[in-house]
Amino acid sequence: MTRVLIPEAAIQQRVRDLAAEINHTVAGSVDVLILLKGAWIFGADLVRSLARVNAVHFVKAKSYLGSATTPEKICWNWPEELTPHGKTLLILDDILDSGATIKEAKVLAQKAGFQQILSVVLMRKVRADLPLGEADFIGFDIPDLFVLGYGLDHDERYRTLPFIGVLTETLGGT
Ligand code: IMP
Ligand code: MG
Repeated sequence: MTRVLIPEAAIQQRVRDLAAEINHTVAGSVDVLILLKGAWIFGADLVRSLARVNAVHFVKAKSYLGSATTPEKICWNWPEELTPHGKTLLILDDILDSGATIKEAKVLAQKAGFQQILSVVLMRKVRADLPLGEADFIGFDIPDLFVLGYGLDHDERYRTLPFIGVLTETLGGT
């Protein structure tokens, strides 16, 4: 069972507001990089409210959770043909947890030749430890819980839910 954490209407409103914030703040046009799979729906919604988009790129990033002693490992499927259409890249991810994904994406984007790199996440988990990377634009700060829906999965399920939910088991069966 899932419990709604962020309702559909609140997501839609915040995505529009985020786009307005980005349109207002970022001078000139942007290339957009959508991190798959989790950010596919957020990306599809956000780009349609962005004013000046040169190109939309997609990269698959899969994180394998480490243990207390081994750090998280991220497997990138970075396409060779990802070449800048403009100077500025806006990286889009679903959620910032440890911050490792955003941090590595920024390094790879720099190597690909983008001069200015910005990032936006729909959610940021508020954790006890310091994040490894930060995003320039943040949709929602959320508690440190496993969330799903609106593109995010749990073992490939729940991606098509229109809201952000929490598995009730992670809430102790309530
Ligand atoms: P980070 O590298 O630790 O910041 O983790 C970011 C990535 O982990 C995101 O792009 C998600 O794919 C995944 N992730 C982190 N937390 C969650 C969650 O609560 N639900 C689903 N995916 C998550
Ligand atoms: Mg992801």
